[in-house]
Amino acid sequence: MRLLFLLFCAQFAWAQKAQIVRGPYLQSVTPTSVMVHWRTDTPVASLVYYRASGKVLTAVDTNRVIDHVVSLQHLKPATKYAYQIDSKSFTADRYVVTAPAFGSTKKVRIWALGDFGDGSASQKAVMNSIETYTRGDRPDAWIWLGDNAYNNGKDEEYQKNVFDVYQTAFLQNLPIYPSPGNHDYAGKHDPTVPPYFKIFNMPIQGEAGGLPSHAESYYSVNYGPVHLVALDTEMRDVTGLQLMDGKGMQYEWLKADLAANKLPWVVVYFHKPPYSKGSHDSDTELDMKHLREHVNPLFEQYKVDLVIAGHSHVYERSYPMRGHWGVNDTFDAATHVVATSTSPNQYVVGPKGQGVIYVVNGSGGKVGGQRPGFPMKSSVYTNNKIGGSVILDVDKRTFNLKWIQSDGVVGDEFVIKKP
Ligand SMILES: [Fe+2]
Repeated sequence: MRLLFLLFCAQFAWAQKAQIVRGPYLQSVTPTSVMVHWRTDTPVASLVYYRASGKVLTAVDTNRVIDHVVSLQHLKPATKYAYQIDSKSFTADRYVVTAPAFGSTKKVRIWALGDFGDGSASQKAVMNSIETYTRGDRPDAWIWLGDNAYNNGKDEEYQKNVFDVYQTAFLQNLPIYPSPGNHDYAGKHDPTVPPYFKIFNMPIQGEAGGLPSHAESYYSVNYGPVHLVALDTEMRDVTGLQLMDGKGMQYEWLKADLAANKLPWVVVYFHKPPYSKGSHDSDTELDMKHLREHVNPLFEQYKVDLVIAGHSHVYERSYPMRGHWGVNDTFDAATHVVATSTSPNQYVVGPKGQGVIYVVNGSGGKVGGQRPGFPMKSSVYTNNKIGGSVILDVDKRTFNLKWIQSDGVVGDEFVIKKP
């Protein structure tokens, strides 16, 4: 035992010489666990100290590596743990709050960000707007809508345009549940290639709730009252099928996952939107068109509340709608809108059931674009002039979405209420 301790100390002393060059960042956060990731400049052992209620614990992996992944297990739900790498010098901004206990319907705050990692001034302005807006009520979780690192999702692009930007303000204490975009795939469709899958660890065994997917591309998370479903519009599975084909491994998993959900709210997120006339056109781009025709019926069947995507570098928010599979010109509000409004942007789910609200928010860094027909007939509100990102505040009966512009203005907002 003493020998083991001495060996550990020697290992640790050596580890102290290494510099952290990426992270730490938090992955696969569940009510009872978190994976802490970081990168060092030389291969060393991994040591995390973490503290709750005054008690300091350690998690160790003696393998010498550059990319470190340490899993903290047996944590308490909805509990804040300070943590630190190779040191007991805890700081105020390095912590993890575990996910709410399964079944909890207390309010949660989720930040959705798309098409952000381009190194632009707008990217930083969007980040700053959320830091300011959420001061005093920080997000609990962070969902990514794809095109996270421009231009080709390379590891060095993730470093420069993601880690170097968000590390201090967010990455060290905000759990990320990402999804990839076409730029993360460098325009290809083979999931064995993108660095994205090496950088992130998704909860694919059902450990965060939802149906196990056993595929890093797509997975679900039960976060308080919200069932979060992350999909991959780029990946071609081993049988050659993509999500937009309306069949294949991802589609079948999605169907089963949505059917099994018991939480009051469902948010599905992915990269390429089924309705957009911003920098992309869902009437003419076949992947978007096919997604709308083949996958949207599932969203309606299983009462998805919000579908949020990126790709188009604008903000577009639709009516709650059903049965609109055609091109923009075929939208008819009298036929396709399903909503009982108590006042504008205040929706109540009543006896008529509910529609699906589609939001495009690919302006977390990139901004602008307009295709013929913008704004769409199905849009309630659009903005292609300024960047922004989405804050969701959700409890058992109320779902509130706000679009926070990079100048801090709340550009759009709606509420859905359920009995
Ligand atoms: Fe994209």
